[in-house]
Amino acid sequence: MIDRLKGFRDFYPEDMEIRENIFSTMRERARVFGFRPIDYPSLELLEMFRLKSGDEILSQTYSFRDRGDREITLIPEATPSTVRMLVARKDLPRPVRWYNIPKLWRYEEPQSGRTREHVQMNADIFGDDSAVADADIIGLACSILNSLGLESRYEVRINERKIMEYILTESGSRNILSDMAVIDRFHKSDKEEIVSKLSANGMGSENAERMYDFLGRKYKINAIEEGIGEFFNFSDFREKIQRLERTGEILVDNGFRDVVFNPSTVRGLAYYTGIVFEGFDIQGKFRSIFGGGRYDNLSSLFSGIEIPAVGFGMGDAVLENLMRDLDLWKQKSKVRRYYIIGIGDAGNLAAVKMAFSLRDRGIQAVAHTGGKNLSNAMKTASNLNFTHAVMIGSKEIEEKNCTVRDLASGEQKNVNPDDI
Ligand code: HAM
Repeated sequence: MIDRLKGFRDFYPEDMEIRENIFSTMRERARVFGFRPIDYPSLELLEMFRLKSGDEILSQTYSFRDRGDREITLIPEATPSTVRMLVARKDLPRPVRWYNIPKLWRYEEPQSGRTREHVQMNADIFGDDSAVADADIIGLACSILNSLGLESRYEVRINERKIMEYILTESGSRNILSDMAVIDRFHKSDKEEIVSKLSANGMGSENAERMYDFLGRKYKINAIEEGIGEFFNFSDFREKIQRLERTGEILVDNGFRDVVFNPSTVRGLAYYTGIVFEGFDIQGKFRSIFGGGRYDNLSSLFSGIEIPAVGFGMGDAVLENLMRDLDLWKQKSKVRRYYIIGIGDAGNLAAVKMAFSLRDRGIQAVAHTGGKNLSNAMKTASNLNFTHAVMIGSKEIEEKNCTVRDLASGEQKNVNPDDI
């Protein structure tokens, strides 16, 4: 036996068919939201990620030197390649709405919801810095989850990096990025650790304690200002708060109700510049289902051209955990699958012919090839998960019909093959 690499997964058809349905739902929802598909290589120059991400992602790459001595990496996230493609095409009419469902590789410690290879749907809007674009991006993520039967089983926690930067600065922080990283670990660390780190970074213990209490709060989307006001008296960021409330209101007005303001949602990735958000299951059992935000500076970092951007990534692993937990990990509807059993030489030929003709009509059909024993052939049909067995012999050929048995109910009918 040869082992699989740690943190990697195999998928057999029973799961793969469900996964394909999920990916089609993602594509279909993206399409109705006006997104168009793109694709890019799985290997890129490491330099691109170094330029953009800082250490978090870099420490997780599967990278190597190729035969031409270039530093290459399997892509750990999709955003840099997407922006690379965007800035390479100056002719594109904006706003641009793109999506893709690539495989990504991160050398992380494998655990529930975290694998070393995962599939991540990405959707991004470029060239639109409106609150409506922010709402559309979050709305697409919610719409996918709702279509998968997860409505009211998740919540979206949103925040705005500029608001947090302001609050941190006013609270005495001397290193905003490092404090953001501390806050990003809010749910993974204990109070003492958070308070002492924030305090040491310039805030002092009283402010750090207050900040800790604030970080644990969640506020309704139309009550952000009052919420922040419970802790801080700063007023200069009203405009940012109003914009965030507007995004939230668009979502709530359009049926996506499970959106809250949560100060500890800041996101680890260094490039976010505005709204940030993460989707979590309502019971808090799993890691984030999706995450994203606004990153208006990345294209100018890559090319000097400024193009506002907002997007999200939604991985397959947490989604599967959550759907299994809620007993939603099953086929949506049973596709009809026909197993065609020929009786006698003429029947066998007719069975093959019938399989080809059903396939031309888009119906799944396979002709039985193993042995003449009818009851064994029937067993094979059930074992292979066919929904129907079709029997055809010389009598049926003469009468221009066939016998179709529903393998679940056992019901049997004589029908004209064209009527299947
Ligand atoms: P991220 O938060 O690193 O964001 O990942 C987004 C989602 O991908 C997570 O919420 C999770 O569902 C999934 N994910 C991430 N890492 C793993 C892993 N090791 N195993 C399984 N699932 C994982 C980004 O990657 C951003 N580039 C998203 C984005 C797109 N921002 C703007 N546009």
